[in-house]
Amino acid sequence: MNVEFKTKMGHHALIRRLVAEDASNVLEYLKTVGGETNYLLLDERGLEVSVDEEKAILDRFYHHPISLLIGCFIDGELASVANLSVSDRWKIRHIGKIGVSVKKKFWRQRIGFKMMEIMIEYAKSKQQLDIIQLEVRTDNYNAINLYETLGFFPVGTIPKATKIDGHFYDHHIMVLYL
Ligand SMILES: CC(C)(COP(=O)(O)OP(=O)(O)OC[C@H]1O[C@@H](n2cnc3c(N)ncnc32)[C@H](O)[C@@H]1OP(=O)(O)O)[C@@H](O)C(=O)NCCC(=O)NCCS
Repeated sequence: MNVEFKTKMGHHALIRRLVAEDASNVLEYLKTVGGETNYLLLDERGLEVSVDEEKAILDRFYHHPISLLIGCFIDGELASVANLSVSDRWKIRHIGKIGVSVKKKFWRQRIGFKMMEIMIEYAKSKQQLDIIQLEVRTDNYNAINLYETLGFFPVGTIPKATKIDGHFYDHHIMVLYL
């Protein structure tokens, strides 16, 4: 599922599935984005797993029949990661949970939009899935704008969903019906 395009700044972008060999790269990426924004559940410590553990995680995604993990590489540098995670439990296997991040220096170049668009098209192609769901901090207006542009709408709010340095933040649940 390789997708190539030019960013707004004219850089070459390649979106592809992440594989076990990307493990160190992905761990570094997650530390970077975790330190650049506090809208993610991760912080600058990243995922705090070993390279071998990360390889196993990437392998599980790669071989899962529905779940999907993709990366966007700008001139070879990992610039964005998005995941669609589906439970194997029968009663909730119609829901795909989605997450996306973009490295700060690549913001506003339509990369987040492209990653989400690919995820949605992929989800539509899977008969098992009826709904894509995501969680977003209620003050993360950039991300909410992006999701609304793509047709997501809020269906509820979780009070005090995250606690950062003693401050509580609410999260919206947003959904898209496929
Ligand atoms: C949210 C995020 C993924 C957007 O990625 P991006 O590649 O910068 O976004 P895009 O360039 O694709 O923008 C697509 C749309 O999103 C909205 N958007 C993105 N950044 C925005 C900003 N700074 N201000 C207002 N709207 C914004 C706009 O609707 C935009 O469409 P437009 O360019 O036609 O105005 C990125 O800012 C990010 O990784 N943030 C930190 C992590 C995070 O919040 N992830 C989501 C957790 S739920």
